[in-house]
Amino acid sequence: MARKISFINYKGGVGKTSLIVNTAAALAKQGHRVLLFDFDTQSNASIWLLKLDRWNKINSSGVGAIYSIFDPGKAQLKDIIVKDVVEGKEGEKLLPGLDLVPTAFNLVDLEGEYTGDPKRPAYLQFYEQLAEIEGNYDYILFDCPPNILRASQCGVFSSNEIYVPSNPDALSLIGFTLLVEKLGKFHQLSASFRKSAMGVPAQVQGIIFNSIKTGVDIEVPKMRMQLRLNQFRAAKRVGPNSKIFETQIRDAMIVRRAVTLGLPVVLVMQEGADTAQDSVINDYRRLASEIVRQGAQL
Ligand SMILES: Nc1ncnc2c1ncn2[C@@H]1O[C@H](COP(=O)(O)OP(=O)(O)OP(=O)(O)O)[C@@H](O)[C@H]1O
Ligand SMILES: [Mg+2]
Repeated sequence: MARKISFINYKGGVGKTSLIVNTAAALAKQGHRVLLFDFDTQSNASIWLLKLDRWNKINSSGVGAIYSIFDPGKAQLKDIIVKDVVEGKEGEKLLPGLDLVPTAFNLVDLEGEYTGDPKRPAYLQFYEQLAEIEGNYDYILFDCPPNILRASQCGVFSSNEIYVPSNPDALSLIGFTLLVEKLGKFHQLSASFRKSAMGVPAQVQGIIFNSIKTGVDIEVPKMRMQLRLNQFRAAKRVGPNSKIFETQIRDAMIVRRAVTLGLPVVLVMQEGADTAQDSVINDYRRLASEIVRQGAQL
């Protein structure tokens, strides 16, 4: 069965999208079959991986965007998967094994004008469609915005695990705290819609520190995060094996440049001259391996 993981924090701009895209790519490079969902109206992951031309077509027509599965009769999840999404200039497949379900700006309508059937909330419809295809994947990853509104709810409801990207600062800690509160409320609200096959609702399994500047000591914010995690664990509000990941991702210019190039970092480094062992590409590889190992403890 696929491991289904949401990356989410109530703090924006901490690196959720850059972590999930680069980790998804690292997992695919290691031979895993990976499906990435973009659940953020901003469409950052979609624009990044599809590049602007391909994404513009989806955005202007709405065809192929995730919102179309919530418009009855319009589309089925299985039909809007962009297989082996990363392409070169000639349309050649650069990273087989990494698929994307893209979003467009119309996803905002899911939070606004969408009414749906209260007996079949969006997250339940999404879960049912996901069940049809999840057997094709080892990892299904959900890039969420910094909230648990309807789009995020789809990811969270279907997930088995939640990872919290964080920066070493007070606002990330507040974002994590708020997330755990909101998660608890959502799980209560959605409890009656869960099927027995789903297992228990997803809990936070890990905190991932991102954008760590060389020479900056992060022991104090890390200790504060650890204390909060310990409190939540004692109260059984996060996973019993939840932890701060050993791997942290350094701050590196190439992470921002990769977005402009429309490539995950693992592919940029391959083309470039920087093959140093001690580089951000290895951070992502290590993180992918740590996520694989964490799965064995669930
Ligand atoms: N390790 C890193 N090194 C350098 N820059 C980074 C790193 N990680 C993220 N960034 C940059 O920080 C900015 C925010 O990152 P990102 O968009 O991934 O955050 P986010 O949490 O997804 O934001 P949002 O809440 O808007 O969805 C981006 O410009 C990104 O390129
Ligand atoms: Mg994002």
